[in-house]
Amino acid sequence: MEFANHERKYAVRTAVPSDAREITQLLKRVPYSHVHADWRLPVDWLGSPGFVALPEPAFSTEQRRSVAAKFLPPRERLQGCLAATADPAPAAWVRVASVAAAADPQAALAAMLARVTDYLRETAVTQLGWLAVRDWPGPWLPDLGFYRANEIETYVKDDDWLPARTAVSRLVIRPAKRSDMPRLAQIEAAAFDPLWRYSADALALANRQALCFDVAALDDDVVGFQLSSWAGKGAHLARITVNPDLHGRGVGSALLTHAIHTYRQRGLSHISLNTQVDNIASQFLYRKFGFYASGQRFPVWVQDL
Ligand SMILES: CC(C)(COP(=O)(O)OP(=O)(O)OC[C@H]1O[C@@H](n2cnc3c(N)ncnc32)[C@H](O)[C@@H]1OP(=O)(O)O)[C@@H](O)C(=O)NCCC(=O)NCCS
Repeated sequence: MEFANHERKYAVRTAVPSDAREITQLLKRVPYSHVHADWRLPVDWLGSPGFVALPEPAFSTEQRRSVAAKFLPPRERLQGCLAATADPAPAAWVRVASVAAAADPQAALAAMLARVTDYLRETAVTQLGWLAVRDWPGPWLPDLGFYRANEIETYVKDDDWLPARTAVSRLVIRPAKRSDMPRLAQIEAAAFDPLWRYSADALALANRQALCFDVAALDDDVVGFQLSSWAGKGAHLARITVNPDLHGRGVGSALLTHAIHTYRQRGLSHISLNTQVDNIASQFLYRKFGFYASGQRFPVWVQDL
């Protein structure tokens, strides 16, 4: 890659917990910022080798010798940071990226990415995704080794209409428990390509913040779940997954009906969700329930490692 030598030019280092304040400010301060943290905060990954920081070049000798510097040593300022985490491997997402305009942003990004992808390869990660919720990385990502793999599209529903309910024999829907998470992660692994899977840890974290999180069980065997969050004054269906062995038998419809009743009980009438544009089965389910594509799409970029 043409940026391969930039890692030597830029003093990229692992970001540490004491960088938290500077990173939080950097993410607000600079125009080139990206956060895709799901149920976490950007600083939650500090200390992981997959989180790197790019300090500003050292202060001049004059500045360091100044009287002010003797009393108040200058704080190290950052001109960039980048975090990628695999949760779960073998795929990872770029969770945080930020670079100052003054830093030759594309080259600075290349230097940070080189360091992070070396680490990801060592941990058997084979794919790195970047969900481009903002426009800025798009023109740079091909030169950084990413290709456009997919798109996420937002669907919405504002009406009260629901399709007629079809009972699924022996199906029970109940709130998710902490002990369900390993089983739900297994269903995720069976139903999704690596990039889209949620781990048991991510689901447990989501469970503590969710608007509602239900599992569907057949004879005590958990076969699917739905996970929803608040989105302003509405509800957001963050995930619905059914064991592939049972697709097409009404489990997804039963979970979605249950979720929509919960939203209504809480007075939430606007519902949103995101799905991949190539996820035809999910679009059949959503359209059956009166969701329509809002027209908002975000590109999904991928780098094979
Ligand atoms: C999307 C998903 C949850 C649907 O669950 P399900 O239990 O199969 O859904 P249902 O059996 O209730 O089917 C709902 C409707 O979708 C349609 N449908 C389901 N699978 C379909 C498929 N493979 N092709 C075409 N239509 C399909 C059916 O028309 C059905 O409507 P019907 O009741 O009128 O027949 C399931 O396919 C799944 O887990 N997929 C993988 C995970 C995923 O993509 N989740 C969504 C993330 S955004």
